Amino acid sequence: MPDLISIEDLSRREIEDIFSSADHIQRSPDDFRRALGGKVVCTLFFESSTRTRWSFEAAAHRLGARVLSVADMRSTRLHLGESLLDTTRMAGFYCDAVVARHASDDVMRRIKETIRVPLISAGEGRTHHPTQTLIDLYTLRDHFGSVDGLQIGIAGGIRHSRAARSLIAGLRKFEGVRLHVVDASHDADEGQEFPPEMGDLHGVAPIEYSSMKKMIGQVDMVYVVRVQPERFADPAAHARQLEKSRLHRELLSRGSAGLIVMHCLPRTEELDPDVDETPQNKYFLQARHAVAVRSATLLRCMGGRLAGGTVIGRRSC
Ligand code: NCD
Repeated sequence: MPDLISIEDLSRREIEDIFSSADHIQRSPDDFRRALGGKVVCTLFFESSTRTRWSFEAAAHRLGARVLSVADMRSTRLHLGESLLDTTRMAGFYCDAVVARHASDDVMRRIKETIRVPLISAGEGRTHHPTQTLIDLYTLRDHFGSVDGLQIGIAGGIRHSRAARSLIAGLRKFEGVRLHVVDASHDADEGQEFPPEMGDLHGVAPIEYSSMKKMIGQVDMVYVVRVQPERFADPAAHARQLEKSRLHRELLSRGSAGLIVMHCLPRTEELDPDVDETPQNKYFLQARHAVAVRSATLLRCMGGRLAGGTVIGRRSC
């Protein structure tokens, strides 16, 4: 089925096809104005969102589709006790594709059983966020020309971040990538090793550092992740973990030449706004790439017609 639930559902070739479509969309947006004309896309967010929902909806609108949006689930009958799966079943009856976000792991496979139209995950539990990973990989390829061979650093609450975990899964599709981590996931991290299997890339374990300061000179890109305070029992431990993984402008001078900084946003204290005005900032570019990459994903899953009549997509995502 033409769904996208995990980045693992895509081969490297399929990822590169999505990137080529995203390039085409950025270059010639007019070719795509009616690509999804007559279609309806439903965005079902059981968890809050800013960028992901807006960029999916902007993508659908720019491709000529209409959008049914549920940004606040209190406006549905869920609060009367209607089940999640009956709610998603209705979206499947009324729309040509469902874009869904949910806080629980493994919920997308269950939602999928209720609908016959393509399902695209907009973030699931702590593990999957395939379209964020496509945006991240697209931004890396845009900047470096290729993802192969890059030294990638990730710092922050990695174990609880679906964006970070999905990115690691996406990096496994490429060759010669080396992963470096500063893990600040919870109180127990002090003195505890980052699980090697979580960061394993083709049998090579990640290199772990005790601080951002130690890692920053070793990587081409640093991906900063929130240090989720809700995961810490002890506020002092949170403050220590935040301090070791926080990025601010002064640390950039220790970075390798050509270093770039990425973050899926929203950011809190882990990424100082004093980095915004530096050339290393690529996180706003990531956010800008979201519409083209999510447009390419919608087309891949739903199919469409370009100006001039060429039919594109719908291949299995
Ligand atoms: C992330 C998410 O929601 O998973 N952000 C995003 O999609 N751009 C990360 C987060 O909320 O911390």
